[in-house]
Amino acid sequence: MIFTVAIDGPAAAGKGTISRAIAARFGFAHLDTGLLYRAVGAKGGDPIVAAQTLSPEDLARGDLRTLQAGQAASRVAAIPEVRAALVDFQRRFARAEGGAVLDGRDIGTVICPEAEVKLFVTASAEVRAHRRHAEVGGDYDQVLREVVERDARDAGRADAPMRAAEDAIVIDTSDMTIDAAVARAAEIVAARLG
Ligand code: CDP
Repeated sequence: MIFTVAIDGPAAAGKGTISRAIAARFGFAHLDTGLLYRAVGAKGGDPIVAAQTLSPEDLARGDLRTLQAGQAASRVAAIPEVRAALVDFQRRFARAEGGAVLDGRDIGTVICPEAEVKLFVTASAEVRAHRRHAEVGGDYDQVLREVVERDARDAGRADAPMRAAEDAIVIDTSDMTIDAAVARAAEIVAARLG
């Protein structure tokens, strides 16, 4: 069975948690595409070469979840040649036998417009900053600034900007528990599977 669940949305909206839960529930593979851009940003040197030579070891680095890695990711993610180098891998993953969940910014719009389920998971910037702050610690105001800055860059870039696909279902998790958000996403996937 070929079945793709595309989950897009801004920073720290809960995409990762929902994606992992959906993958586990339905037995699908999961790809956190943000990790690819984080690894390219963290690798240093020419980001285009980094994207073209990305290895499993690059993705296993321990420092990819930091705020700095997020900012570096969003800067290299605006470079069209970096995005182009990562397209084939993501498309193959999305359409591999057995079903796949991919979370990112452009999965439903660019990587897999034919996805069977498209979700756009969002929440207010303050709620998202609180969630990220709980994960990474540090200064809350700085976390909020970084989240807002990164969203503006991701939504404003010319190539594959972050946006909901026209046929995406929006889940605003501002006033939802994570369990409720997972349940809503699972309901949508189950309905589409029939
Ligand atoms: O976990 P969080 O939502 O904070 O970020 P992420 O999903 O790990 O993505 C990090 C950065 O990679 C984003 O801010 C985007 O600039 C970029 N990204 C992208 O451009 N396209 C994707 N499909 C996924 C991530």
